Amino acid sequence: MKRSEFLKLASAGTAFLYSGSLLSKANQPDPELSKELFGSAFHWGVSTASHQIEGAWNVDGKGENIWDRFEMMKGKIKDHSTGQIACDFYHQFDNDLDLLKSLNFKDFRFSLSWSRLLPDGTGRINDKGVDFYNRVIDKCLRIGIEPWITLYHWDLPQLLEDKGGWTNRDIIGWFAEYTDFCVQKFGDRVRNWIVLNEPAAFTTLGYLIGMHAPGHRGINKFLASVHHAMLCQAEGGRIIRSHLPDAHIGTALSCSYVEPKKQLPRHERAAKRIDVILNRLYIEPTLGMGYPKKDLPFLEKMERFIQPGDEERLKFDFDFIGLQNYFRVISRPGIIPYIRATKVKPDKEKSELTEMGWEVWPKGIYMSIKQYAKYPIKEIIITENGAAFPDELQGESVHDTQRCNYFKDYLKSVLKAKCEGINVTGYFLWTFMDNFEWSYGYKPRFGIVYNDFETQKRTIKDSGLWFRNFLK
Ligand code: BGC
Repeated sequence: MKRSEFLKLASAGTAFLYSGSLLSKANQPDPELSKELFGSAFHWGVSTASHQIEGAWNVDGKGENIWDRFEMMKGKIKDHSTGQIACDFYHQFDNDLDLLKSLNFKDFRFSLSWSRLLPDGTGRINDKGVDFYNRVIDKCLRIGIEPWITLYHWDLPQLLEDKGGWTNRDIIGWFAEYTDFCVQKFGDRVRNWIVLNEPAAFTTLGYLIGMHAPGHRGINKFLASVHHAMLCQAEGGRIIRSHLPDAHIGTALSCSYVEPKKQLPRHERAAKRIDVILNRLYIEPTLGMGYPKKDLPFLEKMERFIQPGDEERLKFDFDFIGLQNYFRVISRPGIIPYIRATKVKPDKEKSELTEMGWEVWPKGIYMSIKQYAKYPIKEIIITENGAAFPDELQGESVHDTQRCNYFKDYLKSVLKAKCEGINVTGYFLWTFMDNFEWSYGYKPRFGIVYNDFETQKRTIKDSGLWFRNFLK
């Protein structure tokens, strides 16, 4: 359908959709957006992560993971909560997937809990964990939802952390065994695989600044974890492909567009260094470009972890790159060691901020897509994008106007990049339902479905209703 024809149809449809529907003003259809404009093959999904939703932390043979341990340490989680119950997806998944289906999404991204499947990280198998994911996958397929598996979304088995976790080169073997196992168990029904979720986040937050599990700090730990994560990213891809030649294989990277505060050479150089640490470090080795040491000289220290042949082993030809975008970064020269740059706090007066203090700037996702499209990447899929706002449950409704507007504006930006010819083939929002937001606990709510963590009652927010109509 031509864009002009669609616009006419859409505005005629608006009146109809309003009458007697559940739509409030904020979630009204937007005449500039229709799912048809993205093409019929476009994937529309939600993303989730095992530790943030499953709960059942010590049920049916699951082993301890690094977050189970980290949450018990004093002061690590802002509201002193844990992910022990979270959304109890482990027990509620059947209804949850029906709910997802009722919102007209066709794709569901979830991660596997490594320690639920292999409680010790390697060796011993937990059959009940395998059953659980079999049931999730089978349910998806039964109701016409395509499952997308993330192999690693931050919940390393604690027993592997005890041996050094991502800083230990042996992780390449541990991860290979785990990947091999998952592919053999689930590969008969699952075509879409995402190897890692945001290596930038779990190496920086977990091994450099200690804000996430396992809570380590130090440049060597960080550099070792980056190199091993990059080797696992490629190795994971190779293992999946060797078993499943037709699989659709990707990895999910956090992508933040970086701008200098001022158009001055020292600001521009600072922005370049931040761009390395946030973006380039995790994509360039995979593409065979090596580590971007020239623009961030301290990466030379990585050398001590690199062994002969690694440069080749870092490469893998992914079918798609998962682009995850939450904010842009404005930077200036600064005192952060090694990087000698710092982020400028977004200005509350000038921009809308989310509950995380992240600036709402829809153009950012467009700029990130453009940046990544310069690399030889076959397909870009937005595997996460979303926002936390202070939602209020009012009876059976949550009028999350800001989130409705957020999604509409970000989607328009994605569409703009797509219309310019970039091969963006899917959009997975973050996230399906409010969940355990890592070191922030339960306060930030990112869901399009509200969760009452006391009763586990789910309530569709206005943003969820907006998507239901949009994807109809
Ligand atoms: C992570 C999610 C997280 C979200 C919001 C992403 O970086 O993949 O697990 O909940 O950001 O903070």
